[in-house]
Amino acid sequence: MSADKKLFIKTFGCQMNVYDSERMVTALGQDGYSEVSSPEEADMILLNTCHIREKAAEKIYSDLGRFKPLKAKNPDLKIGVAGCVAQAEGGEIMRRQPMVDMVVGPQSYHRLPDMARSVEQGKKPIETDFPEEDKFEHLPRGPKMKRAPAAFLTVQEGCDKFCAFCVVPYTRGAESSRPVAQIIAEARDLVERGVRDITLLGQNVNAYHGTGENGDQTLPQLIDALAEIEDLHRIRFTTSHPNDMDDALINAHRDQPKLMPYLHLPVQAGSDKVLKAMNRKHTAQSYIEIIDRLRAARPDIALSGDFIVGFPGETDADFEQTLDLVRRVKYAQAYSFKYSTRPGTPAADRKTQVPEDVKSERLKRLQDLLSEQQREFMHSMVGRTLPVLLERPGRLEGQLVGRSEYLHGVHLQVDQQKIGQVVNVKIVAADTNSLKGELA
Ligand code: SAH
Ligand code: SF4
Ligand code: F3S
Repeated sequence: MSADKKLFIKTFGCQMNVYDSERMVTALGQDGYSEVSSPEEADMILLNTCHIREKAAEKIYSDLGRFKPLKAKNPDLKIGVAGCVAQAEGGEIMRRQPMVDMVVGPQSYHRLPDMARSVEQGKKPIETDFPEEDKFEHLPRGPKMKRAPAAFLTVQEGCDKFCAFCVVPYTRGAESSRPVAQIIAEARDLVERGVRDITLLGQNVNAYHGTGENGDQTLPQLIDALAEIEDLHRIRFTTSHPNDMDDALINAHRDQPKLMPYLHLPVQAGSDKVLKAMNRKHTAQSYIEIIDRLRAARPDIALSGDFIVGFPGETDADFEQTLDLVRRVKYAQAYSFKYSTRPGTPAADRKTQVPEDVKSERLKRLQDLLSEQQREFMHSMVGRTLPVLLERPGRLEGQLVGRSEYLHGVHLQVDQQKIGQVVNVKIVAADTNSLKGELA
């Protein structure tokens, strides 16, 4: 093992990929790799990829193209493709881009150090099985270094829902949950290193059912167990599916003070016909009823969502129902996308594809409405006093940036020593992306 090797890793896609990249850096750290911020200095380049929409997936190939001159200069440079494109396309990636040395799917990251060694022996390893062993058991947690106050922690992976548009059940595999004790140990470790706000991650996080001392535990039970960690101030979770939003989880928003009043609950569309064609297994009305119950349990809860416009068969009238639902729910934040055809998913072959210009027009109308709601929500913070977790230095002298319970960035002048503390802040102004406040 030679020390001082340099790793450049670029992360695409969702928060789980951000978490995974961190774990890969730690795993390779044990083999002497340290992370660098530019590909030019690297001995190894890893792309942690996303397959969710065509554009994201195709971007990988143009990125790889840009590394060609680096490989020409340094033949020992190792290039690896990880993540959901790796899982979906496997060896095909090497056929399209022969300079790729290794391909590793999301369930095999613990094998990366071995894979790097076999590249050194002239091999081109591909690991895209869903292995029997638990990758989390084999991934090191790394040295006890101080870290930023907010962190992600994957508790559940994979999906059995098979929405007709979505690649996740194929790229991340079947739904599975990590055992409670493993999660608590990792959370304690994070808190010892200065973490105060943990977001529990899962593609279907509210379907969590990990092994605990008294049999399988649900997400609200896991949250209560984590809340016992004294210096952990804030708990969040994402992403949830409406069908797994049960009373216990709704009540946790009322009863568990460390659980933040914020929920990302994608609905995708407001027309029952489209929801059925998407295989979502909920209706617009059942979704709205969940929102109403959540608001009854926790009146100050903020909602965020995901939307797809132009799903095959979506008419103008269907799309109007999406706008109606948005007006009814009022989102604090949201993501919206044009439907993207994904090979291998059930919706890909449908004959009723919506023309691109219609999708674009619908997306613009939806985004205008969502941005308006987002702006309104932000401006409603002005004049209020909010608890803010101080996270990092701001751009101005003496300034720190923190985040509110609603994930808004908040800028204020405050003692730099206070990073990691929750302080009360009076909000004095709002702009498009952040709030400005003063210590209350
Ligand atoms: N597990 C989460 C997130 C899945 S991917 C969930 O169930 O909600 C994140 C979002 O990407 C989805 O909510 C959906 O809005 C969007 N998405 C997924 N597949 C897509 C596709 N083929 N075209 C456009 N958007 C898509
Ligand atoms: Fe994809 Fe649907 Fe599973 Fe979410 S619930 S990951 S959208 S298949
Ligand atoms: Fe993308 Fe895979 Fe996440 S497809 S959204 S990186 S689970």
